[in-house]
Amino acid sequence: MSATTTTTKSDNEIPSVMKAAQQNNYGEARNVLTLHEDVPVPQKLSSKQILVRVYSASINPVDWKLLNGNLSIASRYSFPHTPGCDVAGIVVDIGSAVKRFQIGDKVYGYLGIHAGSYAEYVRGDESLFALKPNNLTMEEAAAVPLGCQTSYQVLFSQASPPVRTGSKILICGGSSATGLFAIQLAKAVGAQVTVTCSQRNFSLLEKLGYKLTQTKDEENTDQQQLLVIDYNAKDFGQELQGQDYDVVYDCVGGEQQWISAKQILKNGGQFITIVGDDKKSVLSLKSLVSAGFSLLNRKFWSVFSSAHHGYIWYLLRQNYQELDDIRTNYIETNKVKPLIDTVFDWQKDGVEALYSLYEKSKSGKAQGKLILKIADEE
Ligand SMILES: NC(=O)c1ccc[n+]([C@@H]2O[C@H](COP(=O)([O-])OP(=O)(O)OC[C@H]3O[C@@H](n4cnc5c(N)ncnc54)[C@H](OP(=O)(O)O)[C@@H]3O)[C@@H](O)[C@H]2O)c1
Repeated sequence: MSATTTTTKSDNEIPSVMKAAQQNNYGEARNVLTLHEDVPVPQKLSSKQILVRVYSASINPVDWKLLNGNLSIASRYSFPHTPGCDVAGIVVDIGSAVKRFQIGDKVYGYLGIHAGSYAEYVRGDESLFALKPNNLTMEEAAAVPLGCQTSYQVLFSQASPPVRTGSKILICGGSSATGLFAIQLAKAVGAQVTVTCSQRNFSLLEKLGYKLTQTKDEENTDQQQLLVIDYNAKDFGQELQGQDYDVVYDCVGGEQQWISAKQILKNGGQFITIVGDDKKSVLSLKSLVSAGFSLLNRKFWSVFSSAHHGYIWYLLRQNYQELDDIRTNYIETNKVKPLIDTVFDWQKDGVEALYSLYEKSKSGKAQGKLILKIADEE
């Protein structure tokens, strides 16, 4: 199929057209998204690209923010556009200089905000993919890349010093997808972990095997124990005031998280947010200027106030070596697993599966990852 590849695959295996989601404008899923059966399968691979038969994809809040056009100042699409960032599938074709994969390899990856995993086939540079964890299904594997890798980078490469044995960390949004991965990663390296979480999601945390406690005075060193603050009942800043946390990792957003964090961080402690003050992330010139001023103000005070609380607004970077590390050292060793809320199946429910996927993610009430099943696993 690909003029630039040197593989011996059978061309008959790959059709010329595929089923794929198509976005025709910015807006709500029901208004701008359709499912087409005749979208051309990418025909040419550059030397470093692979073609992947997609089995599952997952949705992240960034997907509905991109669909709505909230981020269009930073990411303009030409339409029609196939959305979807997270993917799990099987390599069906490789470019001539691809070193890390062979046809038939099972892979997972985060494609970035421009590539489209809501399709039967996706093409991308080999550096976007890593081998899929052996102990996960395709649906579980698609749940991992963006959410887990974001928390991995925040905990292990951003915080100064990175989270490790004995570090005290509070995670705002323990039941969010990023929060659920962060708890497990932090626990895996022996950190003391506290989370904010509503009562309705306590059972979700228990599914990970943790014993929940709401008693803040207990020394939180038992690795199976998790200190939980019900955010509907208490403000974590007041509840844990002066408790000298090393890191507050904010997976929720809103200015209040930063205000509360300053009450519990030790001198020199880090506040790391992946959301910022605006939970919907509506990027406009005005909001960027305002966010820029607020960021500079917080950075200024992190240097010149006596407490030196660091403020970091973090954005995920693609890195396949980290996906390899997540696979071998955390997932295949059973230290980290994805929790899945719902699998939406477009073979069964057609375009309604896509609409439900977006609506549930946008509700902010997901209890684990939301998956789009694209093909049956063999
Ligand atoms: N900067 C980056 O690179 C990056 C990367 C990944 C994600 N993100 C952003 O991070 C955010 C989280 O993403 P996600 O996929 O982890 O979200 P998610 O799974 O959709 O989050 C839903 C969960 O958040 C909980 N929640 C909502 N409000 C809360 C609050 N005030 N306190 C505590 N928990 C609360 C909800 O629990 P209840 O139902 O109990 O409220 C629900 O369980 C999104 O805004 C996303 O865009 C940024």
